[in-house]
Amino acid sequence: MNVKLLVQDLEFAYISTPVLTGMCLKVPPGTLVSIVGPNGSGKSTLLKCIDRILKPQQGMVAIDGRDLVQLKRIELAKQISYVPQSSVRIFPHSVFDVILMGRRPHLGWTSSGEDEERVWDVIDLLGIEDIALAPFTELSGGQQQKVLIARALVQETDVMLLDEPTSNLDIWHQLDVMTIIAGLVAERGITAIMAVHDLNMAARFSDQIIMMKGGIIHAAGSPWEVLTPRHIADVYDVEAQVQRQDDETPLVVPMRQIGGNGGRLAY
Ligand SMILES: Nc1ncnc2c1ncn2[C@@H]1O[C@H](COP(=O)(O)OP(=O)(O)O)[C@@H](O)[C@H]1O
Ligand SMILES: [Mg+2]
Repeated sequence: MNVKLLVQDLEFAYISTPVLTGMCLKVPPGTLVSIVGPNGSGKSTLLKCIDRILKPQQGMVAIDGRDLVQLKRIELAKQISYVPQSSVRIFPHSVFDVILMGRRPHLGWTSSGEDEERVWDVIDLLGIEDIALAPFTELSGGQQQKVLIARALVQETDVMLLDEPTSNLDIWHQLDVMTIIAGLVAERGITAIMAVHDLNMAARFSDQIIMMKGGIIHAAGSPWEVLTPRHIADVYDVEAQVQRQDDETPLVVPMRQIGGNGGRLAY
């Protein structure tokens, strides 16, 4: 198998309790991988370890066979882009300037006309011309999310990491963002690894799904292989039905909690 991103025996602990143990991934190029799992299962930590925002205590992350430890930050930023979870209102700049920041790994001291052209190309691709000169802080959550994706896109990396890119978005914007990401994977052959809560979004758009629980991989494979009632019960403690849709993708219908109080208040 042609491997774009390799994660081998990754271990990470914030303090003493391990958050990730024995993580291994092999992701081929041109693949959309969704990471699912309950809150606190280690999805964000895994993405941050891959991008070396966090330094794993053990194990290796490699792109095209090259260990990322060897790369300086600026070199790493030419290999991997990272879209953090939304609702960080940290940029008091125009949308154009926020996106231009993504060109930093490619810039000298100043941006060139060519860099600005790349920014306009991405603005055009995502259909956000109308907000290009607006202040980032005044945008809606969905618009901000698209701008953060644009900022990652102008980095022009082969690997893109996204942390819950559709959380806080209405269903129109969820579909918009997922279609854009899936389109980039299909048309440009980039590899996208995305933490996502919505199992049906993951089912519909992903080539592969990784289901995590307690810092380990519980199941990995195609949506049909991973999204089984058994795996969902084991990982989420939820009884679910999995139905086949017209387009052949699985549809997960959560029915009831297992071993919980069924939503009733405990007195
Ligand atoms: N900065 C931190 N310091 C200490 N523990 C953390 C920190 N961030 C996350 N954790 C813990 O690590 C575990 C995994 O968290 P996270 O990777 O955010 O999970 P997920 O993204 O799947 O919800 C959780 O138990 C969480 O409490
Ligand atoms: Mg998270």
